[in-house]
Amino acid sequence: MCGIVGYSGRNRAAPILIDSLKRLEYRGYDSAGIAVFNSNSIKVYKDKGKIANLENGLPEIAGTVGIGHTRWATHGKPNKINAHPHTSGSIAVVHNGIIENYQELRERLTQSGYVFSSETDTEALAHLINSYYRDDLAEAVVSALKDIRGSFAIAVLCGSELVAARKDSPLVIGIGSGENFIASDIPAILKYTRQIIFLDDLEVASVTPDSVSVFDFERHQIEKKITSIDWDLEAAEKSGYDHFMLKEIHEQPRALHETFAGRISELEGSITLDGLNLTPVQIRDISRISLIACGTSFNAGLLGKYLFEHLSGIHVDVEIASEFRYAHPFPGSLVIAISQSGETADTLAALREVKGSGCRTLAITNVMGSTLTREVDGVIYTRSGPEIGVAATKTFISQLGVLYLLALHFGKSRGMLSSDHIKRMLISLKHIPAQITRINSNKELIKKLAQTLSASNDVFFIGRTFNYPIALEGALKLKEISYIHAEGYAAGELKHGPLALITKNTPVIAIATKGATYDKMVNNIKEVKAREAPVIAIADEKDMEIERYVDAVVRIPATEEILSPILSTVAIQLLSYYTAKERDCPIDQPRNLAKSVTVE
Ligand code: M6R
Repeated sequence: MCGIVGYSGRNRAAPILIDSLKRLEYRGYDSAGIAVFNSNSIKVYKDKGKIANLENGLPEIAGTVGIGHTRWATHGKPNKINAHPHTSGSIAVVHNGIIENYQELRERLTQSGYVFSSETDTEALAHLINSYYRDDLAEAVVSALKDIRGSFAIAVLCGSELVAARKDSPLVIGIGSGENFIASDIPAILKYTRQIIFLDDLEVASVTPDSVSVFDFERHQIEKKITSIDWDLEAAEKSGYDHFMLKEIHEQPRALHETFAGRISELEGSITLDGLNLTPVQIRDISRISLIACGTSFNAGLLGKYLFEHLSGIHVDVEIASEFRYAHPFPGSLVIAISQSGETADTLAALREVKGSGCRTLAITNVMGSTLTREVDGVIYTRSGPEIGVAATKTFISQLGVLYLLALHFGKSRGMLSSDHIKRMLISLKHIPAQITRINSNKELIKKLAQTLSASNDVFFIGRTFNYPIALEGALKLKEISYIHAEGYAAGELKHGPLALITKNTPVIAIATKGATYDKMVNNIKEVKAREAPVIAIADEKDMEIERYVDAVVRIPATEEILSPILSTVAIQLLSYYTAKERDCPIDQPRNLAKSVTVE
């Protein structure tokens, strides 16, 4: 996500804000800005691109209180106008998160005479706070936040007053001597202080050079604990996790929450996908879908095939992007390119082959303004936040999230799904982030199993239907970060060849969640057990039967059969991660691999 910093003290704020923002550069951003209270007014400086651009253009600013931001675009293009801080009258705001009802707020505020200059949701918040402001900034912030649906971490500046608040997005206060700090991430301010207050959801902090007072939305004071942080800078960048990959696995509930934010109404059974650019009539007329992608994104596409065919009755072809360019797109198809980076050369080349074929194109990507987004008719953003580990984790989960929403939306538009069916699915989808958190907090068995797996030369992952793509993803994750040879197979396919490789030395990870193919999976498990392979099942927490057939069971919460791949993904990610860790591999930067593959 984006980065927030704030300073209230006796030193010049601008150099401290710039320095703190630079400590967040490792996370990636597309623009940066600061606002400083100076000579009785707030001065805002912002620019597209690197913090150095911003720094080079800064005059000498004497002010000692200010806020700063690095933006990673989610609403509106990455450009100077959309960069934070956003202002309204004497108020300046920096914001992380998504305001779900910002369109509604924008209309309301426009009618009251506020003029919008950016495309961002944050500007609505600035105007909203201004509309409530009557000489008490904290009161105005609380009133505005009560009108907001969505997630936020904010720092608000008005004169020399500095106020911060959060919901579903991290924010900390750093305690100094004669100076205090605000940051979305500890590394930003670690150079200045190690005394940290972690704000909790729906808490507001008023920050001056000599005091920090924290209160709730009813203005009741809250006693907060000050934690002394002993992480070094590198550990702080990873929020104390050993690797970015593990941090990003733990960020998946939040990533998925953002993927769904403002797009789902489970009460009405409706899905809103801004950027889709397809009318209900056009959706009804889609004859076929081609999904094109590489690597992990390809595995997401494979699940997409099951989802679209099952939920919306549209035939889907899934193509490896580097091969699609030799295929002939079916006229009238919708071609969907999936790419977390939006810069993968193979995917872009495949997409360019479609141009002129009369097919409509849609991108599913995580990076606003990426090349892919500029070459398609519609874009759905996954909103996972920046992913630093080379192995895709949270971007994959969010790609799955978007594919579920698309398939359900298409199913509804084509009259394939009843309203009750959609409502049930949306309610279950909304529970998934909390279910992922449960898997993340229950890893002891996975760590133990990883010790055994780490000594293997070959590992097989098997699954059926919706979990077959996750078997492929498990094998890809394991091989790229642990360097163990791994294969993913449709469980029914083992007996057609690969069974010859199964011995007591080839562990098999069997994704065996409850559903229509459960009994068949059990038979496949018996096949490999008969060849003495050690079997680890990934199964529902209430399934007691599976224990009879396997050596160990990694349990995941029960959900609708069709949604189980999201949860089984987390199990295979953790298994792969801890196996690679046992082998002391450079998990975040595996050999020979890059985060964004820009060559064909
Ligand atoms: O940025 P993209 O999603 O287009 O990248 C595609 C693949 O290069 C990528 O998924 C790769 O397989 C990852 N290393 C998987 O973890």
